[in-house]
Amino acid sequence: MTIRIGFLGAGFISAMHTWQLSKATVDHKIVAVSDPDAARATTMAEAHDAVACPEDELLDMVDAVFITSWTVAHEDLVNKAAAKGVAIFCEKPLAFDAAAATRMVETVEKAAVINQVGLVLRTSPAFAVVRQLIADPRAGRTLAVVFRDDQFIPNQGHYGSQWRMHKSLAGRGTLLEHSIHDVDYLQWMLGPVIAVSATTREHHGYDRIDDLTAARLEFESGAIVQLTSIWHDIVERGSLRHVEVFSDNLYVKLEGDRTGPVRWQFTGEQEQSVDRKATVHFLNDIDALPASLEQNFLEAVRDATPASPTFREAIAAHQIVDALYESADNNGNTVTDAYRTR
Ligand SMILES: NC(=O)c1ccc[n+]([C@@H]2O[C@H](COP(=O)([O-])OP(=O)(O)OC[C@H]3O[C@@H](n4cnc5c(N)ncnc54)[C@H](O)[C@@H]3O)[C@@H](O)[C@H]2O)c1
Repeated sequence: MTIRIGFLGAGFISAMHTWQLSKATVDHKIVAVSDPDAARATTMAEAHDAVACPEDELLDMVDAVFITSWTVAHEDLVNKAAAKGVAIFCEKPLAFDAAAATRMVETVEKAAVINQVGLVLRTSPAFAVVRQLIADPRAGRTLAVVFRDDQFIPNQGHYGSQWRMHKSLAGRGTLLEHSIHDVDYLQWMLGPVIAVSATTREHHGYDRIDDLTAARLEFESGAIVQLTSIWHDIVERGSLRHVEVFSDNLYVKLEGDRTGPVRWQFTGEQEQSVDRKATVHFLNDIDALPASLEQNFLEAVRDATPASPTFREAIAAHQIVDALYESADNNGNTVTDAYRTR
């Protein structure tokens, strides 16, 4: 069976998905594209020999849909796709907050449609290396993580998106829009969070659009994470992450972003490293290379099995992000009930 795919949104991230889809091994075809920006929809549709059409028409033509619109439109599009029984990939953040994201979970689960969210660090090679290393019993406990995430503010450069500067379209700024990836990865890797605090800034002057968040996350395991998320104006710096993990007997440093390089050193051993290409070989050698989100989603649709991460798996990150914003709105006071839907 050829899986018929539709795209609801024809912007930046859609191109990333079509590139990954082009490498997927499951038979599929992009058949339709919908975007209120007609020129964008037509250009993308033509590139894939698909049709540009309104969303209702699209949903009658497809087995699966990629929801890659502005964040504000995600919930409505999920409701419509679920009502048609279509498998749904939805970009992160699912919604502005955990309350809306929870409604979306209920919708897809009630409709029993395959669902997946674009939390891409879980399948990013360099982050898979870090996760493998800290799970090594020789490492001991994870004590601390220093996690810096920076990129130029995305109303310029290759993003060029004005919607991210409006709280009515994006919800919030760099913590929700970008670092929800980091929060999701950290809680997926380190387990439950027991206390958070944060300070935010809006240096660019967009109301409720934080362009700097300095956060502290305390984990049940005892690990403490300092996360700094920055939107600056250095247009030469695209999305970059720098992560240092300190365990009892292991030091790991990830630079660059999803493909590394990664350096590490166990007690009593020489430092080792993998560069961008070697990351993939390293993971292949230990049989730990994650499939792309798109490959995973297509396999799930083909086999009628759950995709991963599901909408439900994204709720924890939303709740933690909400708790961090609550702290920031209260002078950085510690919030201890992160897993409450506010
Ligand atoms: N996973 C990631 O790493 C990642 C990276 C970038 C963006 N994103 C997310 O993807 C989404 C889109 O971001 P982008 O960078 O592609 O933005 P973009 O501005 O490049 O494209 C968004 C498109 O959505 C369209 N749109 C708005 N309302 C729509 C609707 N109701 N139906 C269909 N299309 C609609 C807009 O016209 C625009 O063309 C956002 O939620 C963003 O947070 C995720």
